[in-house]
Amino acid sequence: MAIDKKLIDDLEHRRAKALESGGAERIARRHEKGLLTARERLEGLYAEHTFQEFGLHAQHQTHGFGMEGKTLPTDGVITGIGFIDGRPVAGFSQDFMIAGGSLGTVHARKICELMDHAGRGGMPIIGFNDSGGARIQEGVESLSGYGQVFNRNVLLSGVVPQIAVICGPCAGGAVYSPALMDFVIMTRRSASMFICGPEVIRAVTGQHTTMEEIGSAEAHARDSGNIHFVAEDDRHALELVRALLGYLPSNNMMDPPHHMDDEITLRDDNGIEALMPEDAKMAYDVKGIIMRIADDNSFLEVQADFARNLVIGLGRIDGVVVGFVANQPQVKAGSLDIDASDKGARFIRLCNIFNIPLVTLVDVPGFLPGIAQEKQGIIRHGAKMLFAYGASTVPKITVIMRKAYGGAFLAMCSRDMGADLVLAWPTAEIAVMGAEGAVNILYRKEIEEADDKTGRRRELIEEYRARFASPYQSAAHMFVHDVILPRRTRAAISLALRSLLSKREARPHKKHGNIPL
Ligand code: HXC
Repeated sequence: MAIDKKLIDDLEHRRAKALESGGAERIARRHEKGLLTARERLEGLYAEHTFQEFGLHAQHQTHGFGMEGKTLPTDGVITGIGFIDGRPVAGFSQDFMIAGGSLGTVHARKICELMDHAGRGGMPIIGFNDSGGARIQEGVESLSGYGQVFNRNVLLSGVVPQIAVICGPCAGGAVYSPALMDFVIMTRRSASMFICGPEVIRAVTGQHTTMEEIGSAEAHARDSGNIHFVAEDDRHALELVRALLGYLPSNNMMDPPHHMDDEITLRDDNGIEALMPEDAKMAYDVKGIIMRIADDNSFLEVQADFARNLVIGLGRIDGVVVGFVANQPQVKAGSLDIDASDKGARFIRLCNIFNIPLVTLVDVPGFLPGIAQEKQGIIRHGAKMLFAYGASTVPKITVIMRKAYGGAFLAMCSRDMGADLVLAWPTAEIAVMGAEGAVNILYRKEIEEADDKTGRRRELIEEYRARFASPYQSAAHMFVHDVILPRRTRAAISLALRSLLSKREARPHKKHGNIPL
């Protein structure tokens, strides 16, 4: 059948109008500012020619309040499916040039249709947020639209990976769709995210602040912990999305994309020992250790600037995708505090959802002491780490490098909290508390009475370490499966991972546990 030329022309004309977006001039202005258009963001994300758009012709029909006679091509959001590394990925991208990317009924409908499609097909969802928020002219229907999106964010949480990119304004309740997703990436210069902006805060509370302080990418990466990555610009954000997807399965029923060779590398790595200071009290950068255990250039740190006393990130060990959780002795001596617990617990749950084995590297002196920590609920927050590890059924491997004291030892995935394999280095100190504290409590009188107080204290500390904190003490009770030299760590983890890849663990049926929030 030959299609009537008029029909073809009509279709072409409609397509061309919809593709115009804000028009050549406004597009050029965006480019001058270093910004991509909404369409360029999506097309840049996907392999060439694989983007299949849904809803190019969708737009809200009746607008009042200054919208008469205006058309809103695509209704201000571009939605569709494309392919990354041969895998389908759903994407939506708000077009700020169309009514400020504001969300109305059709705009929300398009996002919801896409999310439903992604849920049915089991594929990740990527959302580019660049919007003035609820479309004022559509009133409460816009709010309903947000509700429908949020509800789908929740429904699909734990089913398919969801990644938000904030690359423009994202304000008020609109922030909650990104907040409900697994990862939030924010561009450094063009993006802002806040519930109440500086003007509202000043009007209501009299406090003076700036967008830089409360709504910028840096502020969210460092202070609030609301985001996971800062991208230098739109293109960098696309790279980060692709990198993240490289570690994640398309959905919770699949394994992450492991790239295993048949051979396992079992070489010793003496370099790792060179990274550890001679003096057990000296700090070191645990990221150096992680990078030696992980495959070359495979470690992708998550939330690098927030709660830096705990390092989390994705990587590969001999091709197997893993999630690393490690105390960072360089910051707050590696202790666990409220923010570190929140950061760690959410990451552990993310790994569990997407079948990513957990590798925990322990050097923890305890929970951070302090009035603020107690008042703000370190008990409730610290419990999240215990809960998250205890509830995870993925393979869990724990390596105790140096300190593993008290409750924090359990919160870093001890054998009793469900670790499948616990390895300790000979430098490990596993105890109820640090040697110095314990000796002060147990032997204060004896030390005071000694002629050489310092010498006696040192002797007792040594004795305590040998008798109560030695890794062999723990190994004798099978709290530690083996004591290994640091150089053997990568090989030992690699062997264990392979043996655990088809781990299955049955749990009692329940709706969900009641994690302390
Ligand atoms: C309809 C909107 C809009 C909105 C912007 N526009 N926001 N149209 N509804 N919410 C339109 C503008 O009228 C303008 O149209 C175009 O988008 C570009 O906006 P400008 O203001 O010219 O751009 P700029 O100077 O860059 O400022 C961007 C902005 C500002 C900071 C986002 O537009 C702004 O403050 N908008 C309102 C934000 C807001 O209060 N939204 C409602 C929040 S409440 P023309 O035709 O002139 O190009 C909310 C609740 C969500 O979102 C609740 C969810 C549960």
